[in-house]
Amino acid sequence: MEVRVRDTTAERIKTDLLVIPVREKNLEGPEIRALDRGLKGNLRTRIEKSKFTGAEGSTLLYTTIGALPAAQLLLLGLGGGSEVADTWRKAGARARKEAVATGAEEMAFLFSPERDSEGAAGAIVEGALLAAYQFNKYRSNAKPSTEAKSLVLFKSGLTRTAALQKSIETAQNIVPGVYLARDLTNEPPSVTTARFLGEQAEHHCRGRGLSVEVWSKKKIESMKLAGLLAVNRGSHEEPRFIKIHYKPSRKPKKKVALIGKGITFDSGGLSLKPAKSMETMKLDMAGGAAVIGTMSCLPKFDLDVEVTGYIPTTDNLPGHNAQKPGDVIHYLNGKTIEVLNTDAEGRLILADALALAAQQKPDYMINLATLTGACMVALGTQVAGIFSNDQALADELIRCAQATGEKLWQLPLVKEYKEMIKSSVADMKNIGGSHGGAITAALILQEFVGDVPWAHLDIAGPAFAESDNAICPKGGTGFGVRTLLRFLSGL
Ligand code: BES
Ligand code: MN
Ligand code: ZN
Repeated sequence: MEVRVRDTTAERIKTDLLVIPVREKNLEGPEIRALDRGLKGNLRTRIEKSKFTGAEGSTLLYTTIGALPAAQLLLLGLGGGSEVADTWRKAGARARKEAVATGAEEMAFLFSPERDSEGAAGAIVEGALLAAYQFNKYRSNAKPSTEAKSLVLFKSGLTRTAALQKSIETAQNIVPGVYLARDLTNEPPSVTTARFLGEQAEHHCRGRGLSVEVWSKKKIESMKLAGLLAVNRGSHEEPRFIKIHYKPSRKPKKKVALIGKGITFDSGGLSLKPAKSMETMKLDMAGGAAVIGTMSCLPKFDLDVEVTGYIPTTDNLPGHNAQKPGDVIHYLNGKTIEVLNTDAEGRLILADALALAAQQKPDYMINLATLTGACMVALGTQVAGIFSNDQALADELIRCAQATGEKLWQLPLVKEYKEMIKSSVADMKNIGGSHGGAITAALILQEFVGDVPWAHLDIAGPAFAESDNAICPKGGTGFGVRTLLRFLSGL
């Protein structure tokens, strides 16, 4: 989708679908008045008859039949709440859907720099682009979708064009990273193997400052990544450890490590999951996908931040050599974990990656993982849990997430609950008691981060949409990419 900014007034715009954002009960704007004049009062009449009030998500479509240069008008309700980027993002998504439904090749969005923030322009573009995502490669009857090919943002007044352009460009630079994360998650699990994920990282993480290392099983053995090797034992596929490095062109102000869980399929291992719980377990590499997606965008941002992505990846299967409940893993930081449930495998492979990343003494360490069903019990499917040993880091990530519309809610690292992960033979066991499962999982991860400021995002819920929503069809969502990029951009 091509995006342009033009400067003219509403009644002169020639386009297929002219979108007019309307605040609730505020139908007296200058644009509506001007358009209504051109339509000899008919727009007013239609608004009154339809009872359109501008409630959030409500729409009114009006065909001008030649009375105006714009073929169709779409009044789009923004609601009356405080205006947040999320409203604009959803408006962009909604407008694009209407454009597709009405066969419009070009849609134009009325935008007023006096009234709307520059950030709103970026959010509209982001919403329209995110909503256009499809994953149809495995359908035999997929029609090439009738796409809205271009989006024009019309503004009146020449102020602040540079900031406007920049916010649009940022949205255009982020969305391909989200698409990549969605694609990697949506691919069938026998396609997205550890080897495939490594190849994809090599393929997509290219450009100035980026380099990728994909460690083979041999190298993983020599690096003593014991958790990854233990989980991989039940599989026919080899594991991989993916390391993506971004070196900025100037001296870095900060060093950040991003760690993503890359379980390409989680059967549970010998502690086998029931069939129903396995249906979506290709999603279990969504944290890794978000890290790859984020890293792939970095050359376009030119930030003064050094970023290293770490993705331990394997599937979790109950093959003949599989690890057994009761086995003990020795980690490279000296700690030991007794594996009592092979389905609590994410923490086992993340422990390696966190310990390895902590050795580099980064300023911040952030991991993303579809770690626990318990986090979904606590927060539902749309909200990720965030745990942190550094409140300033948690606050900043939550602030970024509010701006991107990716929902984060902080959960506590309750140190008293360490009792629950005590093992009779090792330093800890890999499962807690019957309650607080998201917290005990986070406490295990914390044992491997040393004193590095660290945040753990449990994305088990929002990594995968159970049904279509405004900005994403059912399936992988790419959750985390937008928040991470915003966080890195703010350092
Ligand atoms: N990958 C799952 C967590 C998960 C569940 C993600 C549902 C997305 C949707 C994880 O590896 C897992 O199996 N966790 C267990 C831990 C338990 C055995 C302590 C769980 O949550 O049941
Ligand atoms: Mn599991
Ligand atoms: Zn898992």
